Amino acid sequence: MRKLLPLITKDGSHPGGRSAMTCRFRCGDACFHEVPNTSDNEYVGDVIAGALSRRSMMRAAAVVTVAGAAGAAVVGSAPRATAAATGGHGWGHGRDKAARGLRFTPVAPNTADQVTIPEGYAQNVVVKWGDPILRGAPDFDPENQTAKAQAGQFGYNNDYLALLPYGHGRQILVANHEYTDEILMFRDYDAANPTREQVEIAWAAHGLGVVVVEEDRKTGKLTYVPRHHLNRRITATTEFRVQGPAAGSDLLKTSADPTGRKVLGTLNNCAGGQTPWGTTLHGEENFNQYFANSSRATDKRYGIGTGASERKWERFDKRFDVAQEPNEVHRFGYIVELDPYDPDSTPVKHTAIGRFKHEGATVRLTRDGRPVVYSGDDERFDYFYKFVSSKRMRRGSSRADRAYNMTLLDEGTLYVAKLTGDSPAIEIDGTGKLPKDGEFDGSGEWIPLATATAKGAVSHVEGMSAEEVFVFTRLAGDKVGATKMDRPEDVEPSPRTGKVYIALTNNTNRGKTGYAAADEANPRNSNKHGQVLELTERWNDPTQTKFAWSLFLVAGDPNDPATYFAGFPKDKVSPISCPDNVAFDAHGNLWISTDGAQLGSHDGLFGVATAGERRGELKQFLTVPKGAETCGPVIQDRRVLVAVQHPGELDGATVDNPLSSWPDGPGTYVRPSVVAVWRKDGRDIGV
Ligand code: FEO
Ligand code: CA
Ligand code: CA
Repeated sequence: MRKLLPLITKDGSHPGGRSAMTCRFRCGDACFHEVPNTSDNEYVGDVIAGALSRRSMMRAAAVVTVAGAAGAAVVGSAPRATAAATGGHGWGHGRDKAARGLRFTPVAPNTADQVTIPEGYAQNVVVKWGDPILRGAPDFDPENQTAKAQAGQFGYNNDYLALLPYGHGRQILVANHEYTDEILMFRDYDAANPTREQVEIAWAAHGLGVVVVEEDRKTGKLTYVPRHHLNRRITATTEFRVQGPAAGSDLLKTSADPTGRKVLGTLNNCAGGQTPWGTTLHGEENFNQYFANSSRATDKRYGIGTGASERKWERFDKRFDVAQEPNEVHRFGYIVELDPYDPDSTPVKHTAIGRFKHEGATVRLTRDGRPVVYSGDDERFDYFYKFVSSKRMRRGSSRADRAYNMTLLDEGTLYVAKLTGDSPAIEIDGTGKLPKDGEFDGSGEWIPLATATAKGAVSHVEGMSAEEVFVFTRLAGDKVGATKMDRPEDVEPSPRTGKVYIALTNNTNRGKTGYAAADEANPRNSNKHGQVLELTERWNDPTQTKFAWSLFLVAGDPNDPATYFAGFPKDKVSPISCPDNVAFDAHGNLWISTDGAQLGSHDGLFGVATAGERRGELKQFLTVPKGAETCGPVIQDRRVLVAVQHPGELDGATVDNPLSSWPDGPGTYVRPSVVAVWRKDGRDIGV
């Protein structure tokens, strides 16, 4: 009999795998609404017509065929580990046979209201919501919070994290503040009648945070440096510059900004990425939920509501009312770029990477120095994308070089992914049963949508102008028949092998009446646990638009026959559900944080070997407190950093009735926070 890791069994009831409260505040109840992608991937002309001017509709789109330029060869699939090759050794300290970097005793699934870490490791809370980071900001006083105070304090619901080098035992921490949960922020919050102050606090608690952190070499502790001159808050009202092909477009002009080039704020920043030129990228994800009163079909494709918004911001700033200010909503849903080394720099919105619910963006450079960016659109049955820049990075670090590098993502070609399975459709029965060839795998193609150049932009989608493609990117994906995926989340290329990993969180609507059925890349109907896709492509050759793919993990309880761990023996892996954010360590292991785990345990962080004979060996490194999601993992040699997002966000919770008391204990406000974990003996993680 196989010996399996302990598993807590409890059925989640919410379709998205989260508490209803999280769905309400984080993604505007996306799971309860109609799936916005109702396209049959054949025509969308009628949909787009409602939102576009007659002039732009009449402009003929130039159609350039790039497909002919594509080379023929597709690099082969990765080799798979066999059960025999892995041996029968268990885990533990001493002679640990686990993959290098994963030699720790896995944390058992649990529901403890704490961050649970492996034995021999230590942790501390680095920075919490409300901690004063800017000069003059007051200490956290939630009973008397003000928008002015919040604008100088660490924001709410930390998600993506980046650590950038700074020197002298210091690093620069950059965090996304994805969304606010007013019920847990304000005592006696009245959702039907929020006050102006509450709304302005929420604006100030959204956005990005930059805070210098310092290591205590004796203890391993990481603490933040208050009032450091690089510390910064970007909020829902900070000025951004729009760059790329849609900058200045009529579709982006508003009464407050007739130039279409200056936007106030960034919203719902979920995952992100670090660029090789020292800046950070941040995805604007569920921006739809902040806008009210839309009746346009283009907005419907993005899930923008017809009535009042959840937070009622439209009552306090008309730009959130689509009926009054129709184009403001076209100014969100982009990848934004920040230079954390220059506290005076204006952050940028890059329109060339398209407008959708960007989970995040991950960059790598081709051998000749051109950035390639991957980005998922986190919605059930939506797509994932790649942008290939036509500009080369400058290696210098002068102000001019840095400014130039912040234009790299403005010129190039945006592609969407189309995947084809290599097994007969009849063998994909929707249960997750492997097809006869033993793998969910196949080939794929990057379909060009539009190309931006210094002289203008060219559409590759019939019936859509280039600026329409960049602003209504989902509709362009519909038109070219992109593959409808099970919620594409974070993407990460392996620094060791070059293969690209894409987390597909879940999709309980897969296979339901009226929705797309299972296919080889999304092989389970009513998919509760998600999967991780692996792409192999010649990314160094930007003319190459073909790729090979396979499912690296099909997540769930290893006891469930519909799971797959790259062929690794299932009695030696941790249960995992709802993969979301991903990161690599220096050993080539993929680290996966989860959102909405459906196996009765709290969410957690896992490491998995991606190459070698232990490929597929997956181990749980930590779990997070009640109601929380694990976000933003950063895996350094000697430290793991996670963002504990929305702790205590469980149905029925309020300030007076908290369902988590993390991190400060009973009688305090529950606070989203960043946690550092290191080894007590000071050695590298997992070796
Ligand atoms: Fe904000 Fe897709 O998670
Ligand atoms: Ca196959
Ligand atoms: Ca996420």
